[in-house]
Amino acid sequence: MADSDVARGLEGITVAETRLSDIDGEQGELVIGGFPLGELAGNATYEETLFLLFEDRLPDAEELEDFRADLAGRREISDEVRAVLRQAAEQDKPAMDALRMGAAAANLDQGEEDPEADAKRVIAIFPTIVATYWRYRQGEEPVEPREDLRHAANYLYMLDGEVPDEAEARGLETYLNTVVDHGLNASTFSARVVVSTESDVVSAATAAVGTLKGPLHGGAPGPVLEDLQAVYESGDPEGYVQQKLENGERIMGFGHRVYRVRDPRAAVLSSAAEQFYQDGGDAAFFEAAEEYEEVAVAALEEHKPDRRLETNVEFYTAALLHGVGIPRQLFTATFGISRSGGWMAHCLEQLEDNRLIRPSSNYVGDSGRTWTPVDER
Ligand code: COA
Repeated sequence: MADSDVARGLEGITVAETRLSDIDGEQGELVIGGFPLGELAGNATYEETLFLLFEDRLPDAEELEDFRADLAGRREISDEVRAVLRQAAEQDKPAMDALRMGAAAANLDQGEEDPEADAKRVIAIFPTIVATYWRYRQGEEPVEPREDLRHAANYLYMLDGEVPDEAEARGLETYLNTVVDHGLNASTFSARVVVSTESDVVSAATAAVGTLKGPLHGGAPGPVLEDLQAVYESGDPEGYVQQKLENGERIMGFGHRVYRVRDPRAAVLSSAAEQFYQDGGDAAFFEAAEEYEEVAVAALEEHKPDRRLETNVEFYTAALLHGVGIPRQLFTATFGISRSGGWMAHCLEQLEDNRLIRPSSNYVGDSGRTWTPVDER
């Protein structure tokens, strides 16, 4: 059958209805739970964003505190999960492997619960899994989660045992809100496929972490940070970009499959990073990043005049996460901490009106073969 019958990569194929988020790649707009991203990201706590995704409305003050406390009460992981994370750290496995192992073990020591309770538990333990793994990697004992801290602040606290200041917690919270959901991206799709078989949300989270791990999906901000640091030290963004392009390398943090304009998440993260760095961070580092962005966009325009290659979400993710104190090795896992909220909301949405997701394929193999016994082949 002709190749043209195949939607490679399922591009342009609609397989779900969702009220969770909407992307307009031509206009560069992203709506989350009915709010333009810019309206939500810098105002909401991560708990408010989760409530919005779960309930399709904002909570009042009492509902918000109940929701926050409910989530905070589910942060503990068992000794068995800790032992797995210790092994992962001792064997130098990447953070995403540790997160996948921890996610898979999430229901050890848990009674049977309903999908919504399991979904909340998955979201609640992700920071604990990542921070526990990180502490072991540093040769330190894990820091117990604190129920009185918000999701973002508690994650930072568990990484180094220091309660973050409000600017750090707010910076991370803006990031968590910004990347929580993004249409039917690959990891969200894989989560929906898993629950569509009437499997469970812990299995869905495990599959989604595995999907996010791939460099085509979640892996760019680490290399972006290396570029930013190199340019900051050399003070020569033009030379750096030209050298990369001459070597046939891609400039990380630019270009996108869906957006043909600047990724709207870049604007939100750039303002958050600017505020953070100018209120006591290394303001010169942020200015160098802005200059590098300008130079890179211009160089890419010259390099590929027929293709608009604009700044994507990963560029200022690198600057912001670095600023608030997330180690580079945890960037993709921190993306997973945020996106777990979107995955779980999508799973619950899928279950509301489930139909098994089961696409078809065109067979291009041979046919009519006859069997030859092994000693005659
Ligand atoms: N730097 C240099 N050239 C780039 C580029 C970049 N960041 N992004 C795309 N291009 C070039 C490609 O080399 C290709 O050129 P060719 O036609 O001569 O082969 C052309 O632009 C089209 O690229 P393509 O891979 O078809 O675009 P895509 O829509 O499939 O890819 C990305 C989107 C994000 C994978 C791609 O832009 C990229 O690799 N960016 C860098 C990595 C990154 O920042 N990833 C995070 C994404 S959120």
